[in-house]
Amino acid sequence: MSVSAWEQHAAWDASAESYAQGAGTSGGSLFQPSVDLMTDWLKFETKGRPFVLLDVASGPGEPGIHFAHTFPEAHFVLSDFSSEMCKIAEGRVKDADLSSHISVKVVDAQDMSCFANDTFDAVTSAYGIFMIPDPGKALREIFRVLKPGGCFGFTVWGPIDRMHFQRFMLRVCQALFPPTTPVAPPVDLPKWTDRQLPIHALEDAGFCQAALQVVDIPMEFSSWQIFERFALDNPACAGLFAKASASKRQEASGVMLSMAMAEGIFTGSGPVSVKDNEAHFYTAVKK
Ligand SMILES: C[S@@+](CC[C@H](N)C(=O)[O-])C[C@H]1O[C@@H](n2cnc3c(N)ncnc32)[C@H](O)[C@@H]1O
Repeated sequence: MSVSAWEQHAAWDASAESYAQGAGTSGGSLFQPSVDLMTDWLKFETKGRPFVLLDVASGPGEPGIHFAHTFPEAHFVLSDFSSEMCKIAEGRVKDADLSSHISVKVVDAQDMSCFANDTFDAVTSAYGIFMIPDPGKALREIFRVLKPGGCFGFTVWGPIDRMHFQRFMLRVCQALFPPTTPVAPPVDLPKWTDRQLPIHALEDAGFCQAALQVVDIPMEFSSWQIFERFALDNPACAGLFAKASASKRQEASGVMLSMAMAEGIFTGSGPVSVKDNEAHFYTAVKK
């Protein structure tokens, strides 16, 4: 399924609220182990010096809000092309009383001309780079706005055979849509889960010392309702459910519930626990 950049943008805007609820609260992420890994890396790279960091594709605000709690001397710019995501991030920044450390800006990562060359000491992005229609363009923009000597770190998902959440959603899609319906996300996800491609993409954009760390993300959602909305609205399922009729969504809810109970992801009450999701954390520097 080919999904245009415009459709993808609309899908993220439409899913902002359910994504925000599922992906964690202010200062804590559904993907916390990778946020912790990024935080340790930032501590190592910045060595206690104050710094200015740009986070790309921040969605509702993570990992930037967590970073701001950890590095009170630093300044953070959170950016996303979805204005709905940015509105939620702004609200969370205000609620956490971090407005003096964090600004939020609507920016398409493929065109960051609003930022001058060599502006930031560090750039991060969590689960965003592979969602961007032209990730190579975004990497070149990140390289441009980073100061010489600056560092860049980003996370992407691992391959589907090590990604429980993606496999579960694929089975749900296969149970509900004709077998010929492609359920690939609106991006070249499989390409970015390869361990070599991001290293080459970083080098092509001008970065050096590209390196990879693998991290396991045991996703836990506090309730079935939050999981269901997060999963069904997620543009990573090619918008199949977002575009579906109300009756199809209802059918999807039933299928998801019985599959989740059969697989032991959900017991009928309490949290939904989707364990064993591999993520890849890439780091590089601009010489
Ligand atoms: C999976 S979410 C990750 C959000 C957040 N970083 C987190 O860890 O929860 C992906 C985000 O990428 C954003 N995105 C997709 N394409 C983008 C682009 N071209 N420029 C900026 N953000 C983009 C979406 O709006 C969405 O908020």
